[in-house]
Amino acid sequence: MPSQSSREGTLPDREVIRSWFPALASEFAFLENAGGSQVPRVVADAIHDYMLSDYVQLGAGYSQSIRATASVADAHAFIELSMNATGIGKVVLGNSTTALLHILANAYAEVWESGDEVIIAETNHEANAGPWVKLEKQGIVIKTWPVNPATFQCDLESLESLMTERTKIVAFPHVSNLLGEVVDVKAITELVHRHGAKVVVDGVAYAPHRAIDVAEWGVDWYVYSTYKVYGPHMAALFGTFDSFEPLTGPNHFFIPKDFVPYKFELGSISHEGCAGLLALWPYLQFLAGTEDKNRHTIVKAFEAMEALELPLKNRLISYLRSKAAVRLIGLADEGDQSVGTISFVHERMTSSEIVAKIDTRAIGIRYGHMYAVRLCEALEIDLAEGVVRVSLVHYNTMDEIERLIAAFEEIL
Ligand SMILES: Cc1ncc(COP(=O)(O)O)c(C=O)c1O
Repeated sequence: MPSQSSREGTLPDREVIRSWFPALASEFAFLENAGGSQVPRVVADAIHDYMLSDYVQLGAGYSQSIRATASVADAHAFIELSMNATGIGKVVLGNSTTALLHILANAYAEVWESGDEVIIAETNHEANAGPWVKLEKQGIVIKTWPVNPATFQCDLESLESLMTERTKIVAFPHVSNLLGEVVDVKAITELVHRHGAKVVVDGVAYAPHRAIDVAEWGVDWYVYSTYKVYGPHMAALFGTFDSFEPLTGPNHFFIPKDFVPYKFELGSISHEGCAGLLALWPYLQFLAGTEDKNRHTIVKAFEAMEALELPLKNRLISYLRSKAAVRLIGLADEGDQSVGTISFVHERMTSSEIVAKIDTRAIGIRYGHMYAVRLCEALEIDLAEGVVRVSLVHYNTMDEIERLIAAFEEIL
């Protein structure tokens, strides 16, 4: 395990950070992190070790099963702590954010009546739109919270005008995976609660960059994908105790309704993935510069990630702003109002042309609608071409950004 000895000032050294990630040893620049992040070796090792030692079913009395059961329980507790959810709700683990939101929408479908309403933000990834829209078939009214194409935001006034006494849920992203802007979850949640409804917040594009704090924001439901946060291919859905209460999860009939999260975890979850999640601890401790295993460590680790990412993001944004033919899609804030997810279109070149030229240079970026189809339609962005998206996280380097800029300079 790499040591902390080469810390510079208060931030960990970027080269030491990179030495935790075997994939980053190559020349390839991973700049498509919003699609999925790389994992530290400790995570991959833990999955490997778990599969070769404790790969058994949970709940039996022999020692491997006792260890496996504890690992799965500890992973839930760790994610609860990561989301600052301890004591206020529960975390369901599952395959993906898409799968978890389908489970949630279907559970609500059993308790809602025809005419009940759901509001979906136009900025959503389809994962937090489609599962709700499917409920139209049974008489649930779906309303769209429109994006303002001039500001790329869904504003509070238009949300307020959509709310009625039948509104049950407002579903929106904390950060759009295409726009990159951080929205004021707390203010939206307060507005929604004043109308007696609940929020379902998609935190997938936020979670790789900042610490989640469901207690501070007061949200009812919050979901993210762990494979974008340096972990295995899984996802986590937080719900407050009060939000779970009326719902019955889809797991087998003989599992009691109040066995949460198990009632919402269909069959089994990935046990080896749970071992991988837990193995993030030493990496977070390293980033935070402490041996402590507590919430403070998680917060400090994400503060370090944010500080490391900021200069890279700003360099790229200011370069793109300097190109007259480039139109940034999203706020692209050079402060803390956006994360390192930067999208643009070009006046003369198509997104696919640009990315095809970058692909040959050992740099990974992508183009497309990013599954934010409703958003692209609202912004009149061609769905086949979409945007060019560059997505950074803390382990990227200024050299990688300069390489990308040099490539753009030739191509654009
Ligand atoms: C903002 C956002 N929400 C949801 C998803 C879907 O996540 P999953 O692949 O875990 O279903 C993604 C995936 O890219 C995303 O970026």
